[in-house]
Amino acid sequence: SRAPMTDGLGRRIDYLRISVTDRCDLRCRYCMAERMSFLPKNQVLTLEEIALLADLFIARGIRKIRLTGGEPLVRRDMPDLVHRIGRHLGKGLDELTLTTNGMRLAGHAAALHNAGVRRINVSLDSLSPTCFAHITRGGDISKVLQGLDAAREASLAVKINMVALRGVNEHEILPMLQWCDSQGFDLTLIETMPLGDTGEDRTDHYLPLTQVMEHIGRHHVLKALPHRTGGPARYHAVEGMTARLGLITPLTNNFCADCNRMRMTCEGKIFMCLGHEDHVDFRAALREGGLDAVQPLIDRALRLKPARHDFRIGADAPAAAVNRHMSVTGG
Ligand code: GTP
Ligand code: 5AD
Ligand code: SF4
Repeated sequence: SRAPMTDGLGRRIDYLRISVTDRCDLRCRYCMAERMSFLPKNQVLTLEEIALLADLFIARGIRKIRLTGGEPLVRRDMPDLVHRIGRHLGKGLDELTLTTNGMRLAGHAAALHNAGVRRINVSLDSLSPTCFAHITRGGDISKVLQGLDAAREASLAVKINMVALRGVNEHEILPMLQWCDSQGFDLTLIETMPLGDTGEDRTDHYLPLTQVMEHIGRHHVLKALPHRTGGPARYHAVEGMTARLGLITPLTNNFCADCNRMRMTCEGKIFMCLGHEDHVDFRAALREGGLDAVQPLIDRALRLKPARHDFRIGADAPAAAVNRHMSVTGG
């Protein structure tokens, strides 16, 4: 209907990440503080509000939607929401997917596939039950493994997300790659980003992926691949494996120049960048004036998109580049 979305630097925006809740049933050390205060329900968008805004963005050229959180599957109406947005698949929307911690995946995998989801990203930073419990502050890995089995059973393609943490899970990176290959999953390694107070010093555990790649390169033959999923990861083929190895390197090699993404928080705020405070509040406009009031805000949001994030980790960097947690903006 209207012109597709392009920002002030000419970047085409066709990937929308929606955080459907700021809540989570885990407390990963790099993501959340041990005690968190979450938004009251009336500030969180309803299913119908999220779906209406998704309709609007799809009409403006969004071709890929990723549902995130917090943990998206803690929202009770998630199956309905996925189904509702899934109706656009093949009619403007190319992909509907989600990023989940896998804890409740076993009960949802089949319904996700029925709604048109074909590929999911599951966060799993360790295969050791004790290390997993340490990182997540009490999570039970067997639930995630059951979820992954259910995903395979439901024919969902899986990419494992592993945040690389020095001195915590770095020795598990090679075993994780082997394991992902044995399971038919891809693996993406992620550099920890300075978002929100976690009560811990991220400098202690920051592990540059340049270093990790040197290490992996001593054990495997790697070849850069042109394969892209529309997200920030750059992929490598690993000789002798079907698993692809993805790298998300906001610190050592930022990927902002070809960023195609925008984000909506569970409160209906539009952030054009994970690493900036600027945003536009769509909820207020929607609740007061309906979709007609929201429409002009899209262009205002597009103009807010910065050239790049300004994440830094180290002695002279602030503890958090932005005060809100990853779970609010949806990763
Ligand atoms: P696909 O490419 O579709 O598989 O998804 P993705 O890798 O974009 O999504 P996922 O939710 O799995 O996110 C993986 C990591 O990438 C998370 O830590 C995100 O915060 C991070 N990420 C995604 N987009 C951006 C971005 O624009 N900037 C930064 N700095 N990080 C991002
Ligand atoms: N830095 C990097 N990745 C993070 N994630 C959550 N918090 C951070 C952070 N501070 C990851 C999760 C999940 C994805 C959506 O983002 O592990 O896989
Ligand atoms: Fe929850 Fe994901 Fe954050 Fe872990 S990283 S606390 S699973 S939102």
